[in-house]
Amino acid sequence: MQTCKPVTTSTLRQMKTKKEQIAMLTAYDYPSAKLAEQAGVDMILVGDSLGMVVLGYDSTVSVTMDDMVHHTKAVTRAVTRAFVVADMPFLTCHGSVDQAIMHAGRLIQEGNAKAVKMEGGQEIVPIVKRCTLAGIPVMGHLGLTPQSVHQLGGYKVQGKDIESAKQLITDAKALEEAGAFAIVLECVPREVTAKVTEALEIPVIGIGAGADCDGQVLVFHDVLSYASNIQPKFAKSYANIGETIQTAIENYVNEVKAQHFPRPEHTFHASEETVTQLYGKEGQKC
Ligand code: KIV
Repeated sequence: MQTCKPVTTSTLRQMKTKKEQIAMLTAYDYPSAKLAEQAGVDMILVGDSLGMVVLGYDSTVSVTMDDMVHHTKAVTRAVTRAFVVADMPFLTCHGSVDQAIMHAGRLIQEGNAKAVKMEGGQEIVPIVKRCTLAGIPVMGHLGLTPQSVHQLGGYKVQGKDIESAKQLITDAKALEEAGAFAIVLECVPREVTAKVTEALEIPVIGIGAGADCDGQVLVFHDVLSYASNIQPKFAKSYANIGETIQTAIENYVNEVKAQHFPRPEHTFHASEETVTQLYGKEGQKC
């Protein structure tokens, strides 16, 4: 049963223990976050995927910290229950620990997020430790890490051979030991996901990682077929909102051009006195 109590990192850990699946969805603005919260999602991710689905870039690499803060603010204004996590954009957690903590702090202080998400494994452990010590919950992100798309050579399934599968497990454990409260595992074979999930006490949230994890995350626009150019194999579309919106806008355009809109019920009128002054006693009235 859904309660109105805000979701916390302890709630998420308890859900893993009780084997209750965690439902997470991305949202990037006030209305999408409001709908997601009302629909009962446990976690909302202000993902840097907003660069692709909202801002029209061809990867997440162009997204800036200012973009993230702006969208995180809009999302958190709409949310009271769900646990809001905001993405650390490209390069913000691969410089110095001091720089990283300043960036993470902005998402919490200005954006009002409850936690930040960082792409990377063992190499980001010092940053995860420092943020956690400073009271900033960190969610890790392993497997296909879209900010490294140029190095990975495309959006490909990760952890397919034994070395890379073992590396994923090592990285996941290192993040957990550093204090991460949860991990996103993206585009990883189901069998590898199951091993990572079993190895960790913190929740593992999958995207394209099969069913053997503690929860799922999808991108808002993929779930709704909302003007997204590609439908990844792992995503399921639950509605065709893009088509509904386009048809509605076409109807509006047609009615404007045919002068069927606005109708009398959409129209304001001046008082008779004003009309007389505007047009004269015998003047033409609309
Ligand atoms: O930015 C994003 O939406 C993400 C999800 C794909 C997990 O990182």
